[in-house]
Amino acid sequence: MNAPLTDDPDYELFYRQRLANPYPLLARLRDEDPVHFCAPMKTWLVTRYDDVYAGLRDTKRFSTNRDAMYNAPLRPENRERAQPLIENLGTWLLNVDPPDHTRLRRLVNLAFTPRFLQALVPRIESIVDRLVEQTAACDEVDFIRSFSLPLPARVICDMLGIPEADQDRYCRCVEGLLPFSSAAGPGLNDALDEARANLDELHEFFEGLLNERRSDPRDDLLSALVHVEEEGDRLSRAELFGLCVFLFVAGHETTSGMIATGTLALLSHSDQFEKLKANPDDVVDSAVEEIIRYDASVTRGARLALEDFELRGRHIRKGQTVIHLIHSANRDPRQFPEPDRFDITRHPNKHLGFGFGIHFCMGAPLARLEGQIAFKAIARRLGDMTLNSDSFSYKPAMGIRSLEALPVRINEP
Ligand code: HEM
Repeated sequence: MNAPLTDDPDYELFYRQRLANPYPLLARLRDEDPVHFCAPMKTWLVTRYDDVYAGLRDTKRFSTNRDAMYNAPLRPENRERAQPLIENLGTWLLNVDPPDHTRLRRLVNLAFTPRFLQALVPRIESIVDRLVEQTAACDEVDFIRSFSLPLPARVICDMLGIPEADQDRYCRCVEGLLPFSSAAGPGLNDALDEARANLDELHEFFEGLLNERRSDPRDDLLSALVHVEEEGDRLSRAELFGLCVFLFVAGHETTSGMIATGTLALLSHSDQFEKLKANPDDVVDSAVEEIIRYDASVTRGARLALEDFELRGRHIRKGQTVIHLIHSANRDPRQFPEPDRFDITRHPNKHLGFGFGIHFCMGAPLARLEGQIAFKAIARRLGDMTLNSDSFSYKPAMGIRSLEALPVRINEP
């Protein structure tokens, strides 16, 4: 008889102990209890590909609005102070339901176009060049600090048009909001003061910058967003400010996670790394897709049930949280032959690493572009890099899978 699935009284501890390799547990959940009620988290965990795919696109049964999640655990004396934060989080695309979501996403899409992204290519290449050079100059280095974290941070800042002198401050302030935005339960109260101070600083900073872009537009995303208009409709000040914050939240650690876990996968599967090095231009696109499937950096899509319904014989009640485990769906043998095999030429590869449906990752083309440019440069110029440790720990955050560190040795060719 197997041990119970997730009935450990301290689920988070249970989860953390499996962070390095959650996949055997996820396989058991898929086989034994694919719609599992995790009592300590008071949450449903959905693990099979078909159910995750269907759930992520189901806007009739599910909402992503989190107002109640943020409001309910706040102590009465903290409610007023928390409101500006909750209002800002309420404009983040991922937390908005239709019809507001439809309108907001359409307006943002008018600025965040394929042509705009294509124009970023030389800029991304030059950031990658500089970071590769700095990394190559070391003997031993933490690849996350030297490469995977700074790359998406610089790209997002440049894309938005944050002046170079303010970029570190912007990154620090947005990161200061994360303990609040990702907290659940009473922990929100403890995270409030720091998050509020950072939000106020960001607000002051963007007031000035957005006013400048209004009167003196440049060739950057902030200017494009400020001026975007469709049939007289525009982004409100609150929506603009929300986007300035959310684009960093959505695109930084996620992309860094993909580059770091992808590098780890390549360095620990030398046959696959050799395949990439032999033919980077031809193989890199499918390699990036496989990296996202094999160890997805966004591990879940959380939803709130809008009605009572039944799923695989389990009764889900209105108001309950349902977590669709993306990294489990991406290893489901019902969808992917030999799902635990890392194969950078896998085809077809309909992974759910960027989600699905109306909340499908808006930054997917940018993340793919960054991944393709980064992994080509790694294959060409850091091809002799090796791992400098044989154990790796992951950050305890439950929604994003990112390594604490990736020690590598840069060997002479
Ligand atoms: C490898 C890197 C990335 C991964 C794995 C990833 C993954 C995801 C996933 C799974 C979702 C949907 C979550 C859900 O349905 O609950 C999402 C949404 C989103 N992502 Fe990404 N993302 C990445 C990079 C980026 C980047 C670089 C940006 C922009 C700078 C971005 C912007 C967004 C936005 C705006 C949404 C919300 C879309 C909406 O609700 O309509 N992402 N992402």
